[in-house]
Amino acid sequence: MRLDKFLAHMGYGTRKEVKILVKSKAIQVNEVAVKDSSMHVNEITDKVTVYGEPVKYKEFIYLMMNKPPGVISATEDSRDQTVIDLLDDDVRHFDPYPVGRLDKDTVGLLLLTNDGALTHRLLSPNKDVPKVYYAKVEGVVDESDTIAFSHGVILDDGYHTKPGILKILNSGPVSEIELSVTEGKFHQVKRMFEAVGKKVVYLKRLSMGKLVLDKNLSEGTYRELTEEELEQIQQKNDLA
Ligand code: URA
Repeated sequence: MRLDKFLAHMGYGTRKEVKILVKSKAIQVNEVAVKDSSMHVNEITDKVTVYGEPVKYKEFIYLMMNKPPGVISATEDSRDQTVIDLLDDDVRHFDPYPVGRLDKDTVGLLLLTNDGALTHRLLSPNKDVPKVYYAKVEGVVDESDTIAFSHGVILDDGYHTKPGILKILNSGPVSEIELSVTEGKFHQVKRMFEAVGKKVVYLKRLSMGKLVLDKNLSEGTYRELTEEELEQIQQKNDLA
């Protein structure tokens, strides 16, 4: 790969900016100062440094975001702000996209990556990756709902959902619950509650498989996954 492309991809600025770095002799390849930013490097075996700092090649990016309300889980939208608009340039140039969707008003855990194989594994319907949501629900949620969800409920389009595990945190005129589901149908959680005559008024995703929303991430912020989190979600049979 061309050196300027490689460094641009690693977040060292545009090709033009890389040229300036070359001029100021800031870049070395295998301990030799670079004269031409168009030179070719092997991104795995060549040792590239910028101002003496080694540049480690990275193809994929994995971000955990606490999605705020009012933002769309998409890469572009003609009207609304998207989750990609919330990213800084140093990660945006990897072209990440959200893994699955949260509704515009839903908040919480959203994984963004450019790793297609991982996305496929996480979203594959037969992988049964559990997703846990916290919700506030208008109406008294009780044991009858827990039982109904444990058998799956029939949505407005006649679809019989897979079982969901409902935990009632607080039952009242506005109940608080946690629901674990393995599917990701359009408006899944909201429609499951509609099926039992109740309305979700607040929805937050807490986890996806073993990936748990970091409590220190405020809404609208994100961070890269830790090595440990990455290992956990990459273990092919260990998502559930
Ligand atoms: N279920 C919903 O109804 N909405 C979401 O955003 C996610 C799950």
